[in-house]
Amino acid sequence: MILEDQYFLGYRSAEHDRLRAQAEDFRSEAAWLFDQVGPLDGKHVVELGVGPRGCLDELARRVGPTGSVIGVERDAESVELARKFVVDRTLDNVEVRHGDARATGLPGDSFDFVTERLILHNVPRPEEIVTEAVRLARPGGWVAFHEGDRVGQVCDPPAESWTRLMEVSQRYADLNKINLFVGRRMPGLLRRAGLVDVQVRPVVYIDHEPGHERRMVLADFAENLRDRLIASELITREEFDELHTALSSHLADPGTSVISHLYVQAWGRKPE
Ligand SMILES: C[S@@+](CC[C@H](N)C(=O)[O-])C[C@H]1O[C@@H](n2cnc3c(N)ncnc32)[C@H](O)[C@@H]1O
Repeated sequence: MILEDQYFLGYRSAEHDRLRAQAEDFRSEAAWLFDQVGPLDGKHVVELGVGPRGCLDELARRVGPTGSVIGVERDAESVELARKFVVDRTLDNVEVRHGDARATGLPGDSFDFVTERLILHNVPRPEEIVTEAVRLARPGGWVAFHEGDRVGQVCDPPAESWTRLMEVSQRYADLNKINLFVGRRMPGLLRRAGLVDVQVRPVVYIDHEPGHERRMVLADFAENLRDRLIASELITREEFDELHTALSSHLADPGTSVISHLYVQAWGRKPE
């Protein structure tokens, strides 16, 4: 199944739960990245592709009452969840808009800081979102991305279920022109879009404790893709279910370690 505008992870409610847990998990990495662009007090910020939460609370805290944060999200249900999060946390300086990160309709050259996390890794034509992020930033403003790259994502000891589900999901991404290795391209994409002072920081985890959410990423991604993999005839229902059960039990084994995606934080400044 080749879809013109594919979003790799889909929108199951379990995926919304995973994203909320992941946002907590990445809290310190988000804080580190935002520290690189200097104080945000009183600044005007955009976060693209916020999902059910993203970094809205951290950004709201940083910009304070005289600043503002606009979150942009394409999926209507995620927009509702993010708006509820904003109300529940009384984030009065945050607005969530239903829109497309490739063409937000927001004014160009206007924002002190534009950021996004883990959209490019899941969509075709990532450069469209980079171009829009750079367009939104004011001259002298900063743009920062936190992206993924599948390099080195392994489990140990190796398992046939892991290898096969990696292969099948890779094949699906290739068919839909989604680059699961986009992380390594980030510095080049930012420079090509016109940013200067581009910097990059790799982040990787070794997850050895059974029960940690991040350890389940391949099993969760595969579950998100299940119906699409079967409809694309990349795998049969029977094989998928067998592999998924085998993988879940391998990942529940305290003797198994998982090395995560490589995450790539890349940031740069729009010239004055
Ligand atoms: C993996 S999730 C990450 C969510 C959030 N950035 C975080 O890190 O918690 C990617 C999000 O990007 C959204 N997305 C994908 N393509 C988009 C687009 N063109 N415009 C706006 N949002 C988009 C998806 O709907 C999804 O909510």
